[in-house]
Amino acid sequence: MTLAGKTAVVTGAARGIGRAYVERLAADGAHVVAVDVDDPTGGLAGLAGGGAKLGLVCDVSRSDQVATVVATVLGRFGRVDILVNNAGIFPVADLEAVTIDLWRRVQAVNVEPILRFAQAFSPGMRAAGWGRIVNTGSASTLLHGRDLAYLTSKAGVHGLTRALANELGDSGITVNAIAPSVVATEGFLGRAREKGPTADEVLTRISAMQTIRRLSVPADLGNVLGFLVSDAADFITGQIIHVDGGLTRTGA
Ligand SMILES: NC(=O)c1ccc[n+]([C@@H]2O[C@H](COP(=O)([O-])OP(=O)(O)OC[C@H]3O[C@@H](n4cnc5c(N)ncnc54)[C@H](O)[C@@H]3O)[C@@H](O)[C@H]2O)c1
Repeated sequence: MTLAGKTAVVTGAARGIGRAYVERLAADGAHVVAVDVDDPTGGLAGLAGGGAKLGLVCDVSRSDQVATVVATVLGRFGRVDILVNNAGIFPVADLEAVTIDLWRRVQAVNVEPILRFAQAFSPGMRAAGWGRIVNTGSASTLLHGRDLAYLTSKAGVHGLTRALANELGDSGITVNAIAPSVVATEGFLGRAREKGPTADEVLTRISAMQTIRRLSVPADLGNVLGFLVSDAADFITGQIIHVDGGLTRTGA
């Protein structure tokens, strides 16, 4: 229960990787606020851990809805100690297919909320002299894919991670990103179906490029999150931690 008494907000927390983050933070004793455009309350009450568990519906691309979440969370808990920006969409669109509206939508969901939530919650972290911000990036920025909007957004997540780390390092706040490879979540499977080949083909092809050839599961990311938000990681900031079975190793 290393996080007892701490409050964590996780976006994109109704399912997939975000749900694994919620489970890990709750198990480690934090009060956890699960935020998602789909109702994230299902199953929350039954999670392990003695902290509070709250689900809030919010489209993180909407500044009014983000403001409501911020007011609700600060009203109930006073401050946020751990912010996990994980909500993301990954529509398939190459250079010919992408529209500026789609491109903007992906940045609005995947990148902009990180700034909004960091602006809202970092003053409380500064005042406490302790904070953790962890963003979900992607190993795909280094390797593969022709999804311009998505790759741009995840490169933006990585850049924003480093920029926030620059600003907040002197305040006891670390800012890092976890960059997964492929994880067979609902979001990923939907994307694979859009691309044409079966999801199984994509998963087999990607895992064959790793040195650890099993498929990644959400708990792989949850374990790394658990470390990054702990005091054991208090000298790690501005890093993009690839949790990818060796997919992006150099010299491959
Ligand atoms: N699954 C993978 O292979 C993979 C690889 C690299 C990075 N990622 C990243 O991991 C994160 C989680 O992905 P996942 O695989 O769990 O996907 P997922 O689609 O299963 O889950 C994403 C969650 O985000 C929520 N969400 C989407 N738009 C939202 C919005 N506007 N406001 C609030 N919530 C919103 C969804 O409702 C969903 O619950 C994303 O940022 C994704 O880009 C995933």
